[in-house]
Amino acid sequence: MVGEKLLEDQGKYGATTTQAVGPEGAKTDGTISIQIEGVSRTTMKKVFSFLLCFLLVFASLQLSQIQGESDENSLTPVELLGKSLFFDTNMSTPSGQSCASCHAPETGFTGPESDINAHGAVYHGAVVTLFGNRHAPTAAYAGGSPQLYYNETKGLWTGGMFFDGRAAGWTIGDPLADQAQWPLVTAFEMNNPFPVDVVQKVKISNYASLFEEVWGNGSLNDVGGAFDKLGKAIAAYERSTEVSSYTSKYDSFLAGKTQLTDLEVLGLKLFQGKAKCDSCHLSQPGPSGEPPLFTDFTYWNLGFPKNPENPFYNMSSKFNPDGENFIDYGLGNFLKNAGIMARNESYPPEVYEPELGKHKVPTLRNVDLRPNPEFAKSYGHNGYFKSLEEIVNFFNTRDVRDWPKPEVSVNLDSLFVGNLGLTSDEESAIVAFMKTLSDGYISEQLLIAVPEIVIAIVAVILATSVAIIALRKYKNHNRARSIGVG
Ligand code: HEC
Ligand code: HEC
Repeated sequence: MVGEKLLEDQGKYGATTTQAVGPEGAKTDGTISIQIEGVSRTTMKKVFSFLLCFLLVFASLQLSQIQGESDENSLTPVELLGKSLFFDTNMSTPSGQSCASCHAPETGFTGPESDINAHGAVYHGAVVTLFGNRHAPTAAYAGGSPQLYYNETKGLWTGGMFFDGRAAGWTIGDPLADQAQWPLVTAFEMNNPFPVDVVQKVKISNYASLFEEVWGNGSLNDVGGAFDKLGKAIAAYERSTEVSSYTSKYDSFLAGKTQLTDLEVLGLKLFQGKAKCDSCHLSQPGPSGEPPLFTDFTYWNLGFPKNPENPFYNMSSKFNPDGENFIDYGLGNFLKNAGIMARNESYPPEVYEPELGKHKVPTLRNVDLRPNPEFAKSYGHNGYFKSLEEIVNFFNTRDVRDWPKPEVSVNLDSLFVGNLGLTSDEESAIVAFMKTLSDGYISEQLLIAVPEIVIAIVAVILATSVAIIALRKYKNHNRARSIGVG
């Protein structure tokens, strides 16, 4: 079939034979063989250039796949707008702080300063003497959280954003977009007095035209609308494949492309079994194959101790009336104040009291991602824990070893954590498994494969060239013989 097609094409280029081409013919009949030889050569050239084109396309596809993740062209306009806002250090008052100052890509969109993480764990705001009271969780993989609601079946509050759910999403409809507005106008973060000041900054930015391209001409003139749209753009970026990329070793394992080591497999089994981590940090794909988010967005008090180095304890009474007696009551505190903060609905004590001391289950994706092995990360709402080993040991032994007392001792969970009976080898296996959740593994694998791809391409080109040269030699030799030279 292919031979016939090539031969037909040959007609267009002036070949004189319509007979099938093959080494047999060349061998048996010298007269035809000169014509066939001509045909073969052009055909060979065609085959060769076809092969070359194919290889080039193949190679560029491979390379673009590798580049794809970090390629800005792969972001949609609204995601690109969100990215511009996320990294813009002019968005604070005074300027100098962006979202990325506390949520940097190299640490999985958490705090990028090892020294801070190793101690108080709370970052200062654009005004460097002002501190909030919690550490920065990851800004990635948060987009799956629904609006905060009470799940009757589970008997658990679910959804919302922040450790206490206060970016509930009730007004704007999307908790992630709701959340993005808060730091911009919070005194101990980016410190803009009002939304109008934020919108003014966008107006004079170099992406103001992109804003109008995405949201329509004049969209920056309506302050309330523009402030919501800005939140939505940031949320779109946080949901994009650049921030939430699902490229960990575990994702590759779930796709059947990578094996886990024996230790990691043991860790996964314990995570889903004896250690019960999976009850809150969901690790299995969803009903339609959605990759797991390692959180069910519910709230628990696991008894994490206070972090004595938290700089919030030293803040003035304007920000912290309780001084060093400050206690982080989490979700319960928000529900108690929800009337004034979001909905015009005040919750009675029977609703908020059972929630005092509870914090939202964080995702475990990128929990170990760090720029180098010496880089310190902190864990838990106040950053009390400084390593994965330590926090797993806490879950395992809270009730049987001498740990500092819980920050809040009411509503403490003992059903899932506190005394798991894990050996130290089992603790290590769980840590090893959590290390498979760092993004970048899949593109790393592709990069490792680059030399192999290049070698394969060169080898195919070489082999084809050698084959063509050999064939020509053979034919020349044949032709020479048929006219009586050889
Ligand atoms: C000064 C440091 C700082 C800056 C700047 C900052 N954040 Fe945060 N971020 C935090 C802290 C601390 C929390 C947790 C606060 C809490 O739970 O009360 C947080 C929480 C979040 C969360 C919630 C994640 C979850 O699962 O609940 C997201 C998303 C987020 N920030 C995105 C952003 C965006 C977008 C910006 C810029 C507009 C930003 N942050 C600016 C420190 C910061
Ligand atoms: C009952 C639900 C629940 C179970 C079971 C559970 N966790 Fe958690 N986990 C949470 C909550 C809630 C937090 C945040 C608590 C806080 O900050 O006060 C958390 C925090 C963490 C953190 C800190 C993450 C960060 O970025 O700060 C790690 C790591 C972690 N859990 C791992 C595990 C492991 C490993 C197990 C099993 C041994 C486990 N968890 C079992 C609910 C749970």
